[in-house]
Amino acid sequence: MRANRVVQDELDINRGEALRQLHDAVQVCARQQNVPSVLKKKSSWIAYCFVREGCARDARTDSECQHELRLTCSLTTSAPVGDVTACAEIFDKNKGIIHVNSTRRGRNTALHTAMLHSQEGPLVDYLIDKGASLDAENNKGCSPIVLAIMNCRGGKAVAKLINAGANYKEFKTGKYRGMSAMDVAVEYKNDSVVQLLKRLGDEENDTCVATVSDGPVNMKERATCPICKMTVKMSRIESDQLHIERRVKSNGDFSQGSTKRHKQKKYIARKYMDELLANKEAYRILCGIEYHHVENMRIRKEISESMGVLHAVANACGKLGIAGSEGGISLRNVFIVDLCSGKGMTTAICGAMNEDGSNNKFLAIDKMLPHTVPHFIHSNSKLEYLCRDVMSEELCAELEGRVKEQVAMGRVPILIGMHLCGLLSDQAINFFERIEEIKAIVLSPCCLPTKRDQTKLPYFQKEKADDPLHNYFLWARYLKGRIEGRFSETVRSGKMDVSLYTDSEMHTEKNALIVGLRNGP
Ligand SMILES: C[S@@+](CC[C@H](N)C(=O)[O-])C[C@H]1O[C@@H](n2cnc3c(N)ncnc32)[C@H](O)[C@@H]1O
Repeated sequence: MRANRVVQDELDINRGEALRQLHDAVQVCARQQNVPSVLKKKSSWIAYCFVREGCARDARTDSECQHELRLTCSLTTSAPVGDVTACAEIFDKNKGIIHVNSTRRGRNTALHTAMLHSQEGPLVDYLIDKGASLDAENNKGCSPIVLAIMNCRGGKAVAKLINAGANYKEFKTGKYRGMSAMDVAVEYKNDSVVQLLKRLGDEENDTCVATVSDGPVNMKERATCPICKMTVKMSRIESDQLHIERRVKSNGDFSQGSTKRHKQKKYIARKYMDELLANKEAYRILCGIEYHHVENMRIRKEISESMGVLHAVANACGKLGIAGSEGGISLRNVFIVDLCSGKGMTTAICGAMNEDGSNNKFLAIDKMLPHTVPHFIHSNSKLEYLCRDVMSEELCAELEGRVKEQVAMGRVPILIGMHLCGLLSDQAINFFERIEEIKAIVLSPCCLPTKRDQTKLPYFQKEKADDPLHNYFLWARYLKGRIEGRFSETVRSGKMDVSLYTDSEMHTEKNALIVGLRNGP
């Protein structure tokens, strides 16, 4: 009642004074669980800023509140489309004004909004990483996990929330008080979440919880990762290979099927896989449970590609005269920078196949958030992961600093870029050009730059061709020319020794490898 009177009598006359009085009055109302509805009618933004914080903070000026409200609005308009960059920019530019748990209409945080709009991808990782409250309830009494069950049919968002520690066993408050996530999933007929929760339930009764680095796990055996609590199947590499060999024997090189996708070539080249399997210690390490993120449906393909790049690195080391690099992919005294490392297969193999005494260091750089990168990168002192935008200008200076530190430790820096998309290959060459201490670059390009990005490359012109790979190899030749310094005045001709070849052991049609060596001091 008192708040109503204050608002009606004074708000329009003297807003500053009213704010102070409102602050006191609303605190009383809030303690009595009685937020005056007139606040919403009269001035929704004032209501918002008081009610939102449960009146726990000091009264703020009109413009501060309006600014904050605008920011929170823009935050919750970025969340529905999963725009991580926009959200990150809003937080970065407005530190101290809004935070990851700022709420808007309906007491929804950005995480609530993301769940309401079925986001399951990087935005969810980003908000969790930023410390979003996992169990905050909106004004309908729903926590993010409840909204995820209702709106995110893939089950990934729910898995991420549970992995991050969200309560799913029994909701203590809110609309679903007394119910579990399973009850809500059944009610909303979200089958993938039901399956996920069933698996989690099984795991909890499971006595077989694998420990880190306990070696290969039987293929049929499931194990629970002690780090992220996911249920994983391991050690599929050999059985996948045997399976595909059997299918090629009976059906030929190409899969049957009418669509282009189903007509894909089956690759059975196994030289690189055998080389990896022959290194029992490396295989044992790679089967350790902390490598489970690397294991996926395309494991043989990824191994073949990474091994192709690493053979190119080993050859480059031979030519550079780096001691200990003769034969196989045994490396010594190198600092390998794996640009756009993805899940880090190349770095994983580097780490596993090169024993501790070899004075190597491997740095993986990607924009993936650290908690989405396989655990092995964080649990091996030879390996390091940097979460960076490779296209950013600042990275060059940072990389240069790191390269110099490693040179001081007797390591030769080598840059690798495995299946870099579009302009990322060009950017890798920029780093190589600018950081003189990097002695070699090994690139295996992937897709061409987008049409818009091609306008930034005056010397590259896509051509019309029937062969779908024509432009891929045109792009590879362009990148070779770039490393040679053909399109640059800053690179002295003859300073680079560059080769371009294809590696048929790689399980991909995009098997071009470009190796650039810096000649002389
Ligand atoms: C095709 S994947 C290659 C992954 C890895 N090299 C491999 O062979 O498995 C491309 C990777 O580039 C990363 N990426 C794309 N744009 C990036 C950027 N601007 N900065 C850093 N990483 C980027 C993606 O996150 C993704 O992991």
